[in-house]
Amino acid sequence: MSFTIAIDGPAAAGKGTISRAISTHFNLAHLDTGLLYRVIGAKMLAGEAPLAAAQTLTATDLERSDLRSAGVAQAASKVAVLPEVRAALTDFQRAFAQRAGGAVLDGRDIGTVICPEAEVKLFVTASAEVRAKRRFLELTQKGTVTTLEEVLADVRQRDERDMNRIEAPLKPADDAVRIDTSELNVEDAIRYAISVVVEKRKSANVLT
Ligand code: CDP
Repeated sequence: MSFTIAIDGPAAAGKGTISRAISTHFNLAHLDTGLLYRVIGAKMLAGEAPLAAAQTLTATDLERSDLRSAGVAQAASKVAVLPEVRAALTDFQRAFAQRAGGAVLDGRDIGTVICPEAEVKLFVTASAEVRAKRRFLELTQKGTVTTLEEVLADVRQRDERDMNRIEAPLKPADDAVRIDTSELNVEDAIRYAISVVVEKRKSANVLT
């Protein structure tokens, strides 16, 4: 039986952390769909046409070590505007969502476009300042030289592009549960997200 958990939200809101925790807790497969767009963005920066990159994407591509940079994130949000790129990624994401045993997918349009029938939809958000601070720490811990101002500008620019594009714009699904992590620590955010999933699994009669 498939059981899909869709986790959407703006840049650096904590989707990845919450998705990984849910995937481990419930033993579900996890797909970070942002990585798909990041690979295509990275390939575009290397001169490849975005559609060709989307059509030839492989599992090994997702393991590239250069996908987390701000430059690649910006390129990802640029290729993510293109309807043909999004369309080329749809079947793969839907097939992943339908796998037996269930799956967690995080991104921008999972609950609205990719899996509108998902059993659980979460919309994880936080203020732009809080998100930028978290991403700044993440990047500097990895040795990236940047400033908080630069990271905040990147987050704001991507939010703007992601929310205002015509195709699959970032927005909460009508039936999504919102989690604002501005004032929640990681443990509390995870605990709350797990409690939402537990309730939904009970009502869907899934043994946890
Ligand atoms: O980790 P972060 O939240 O900063 O970004 P990400 O989830 O890795 O996504 C990178 C970019 O890919 C986003 O800014 C979006 O433009 C795009 N994206 C998308 O359009 N749809 C998705 N389902 C996932 C990501």
